[in-house]
Amino acid sequence: MILNKESVALMQKKASQYPRRKSGILPALTIAYRQVGHLNDQIYREIAKAINVPYVEVAEAATFYTMFPKQPTGKYLIQVCHNISCALLGADSLVEYLEQKLGIKKGETTKDNLFTLISVECLGSCATAPMMQINMDYYENLTRAKVDKILEELRAKA
Ligand code: FES
Repeated sequence: MILNKESVALMQKKASQYPRRKSGILPALTIAYRQVGHLNDQIYREIAKAINVPYVEVAEAATFYTMFPKQPTGKYLIQVCHNISCALLGADSLVEYLEQKLGIKKGETTKDNLFTLISVECLGSCATAPMMQINMDYYENLTRAKVDKILEELRAKA
């Protein structure tokens, strides 16, 4: 069993608030992601059992969304938006800068297991492009100076 009792209880509580139990799938995936840090097949099965929905519907929802990593990542998952508004305002150069700063390529994790860097489709914050999401938080109107400060603060917190 990967999910702890608290996560399962919270998933069941959330699912019970909807007229259709399957509406509880996304909240359940979010709860699982917050507990474990990534999702996998075993977790889909545990969610299906916990909220009494078909496994395939949990797996379909989980694999549709890039916001749920499917394998372990570093402590901080950096997701840089590479869609149109962010691309026009320098997302590519931001990714290159992060690659340089972290000493990794996109898709990789730093040796100290602190940072994983990926780029993703629109995160719905186009008006504050370029932007990135780190774990559950948004960082917007990014500049290289802001990125330096963010990384410094995260390192200090780790
Ligand atoms: S294009 Fe980057 S948040 Fe929408």
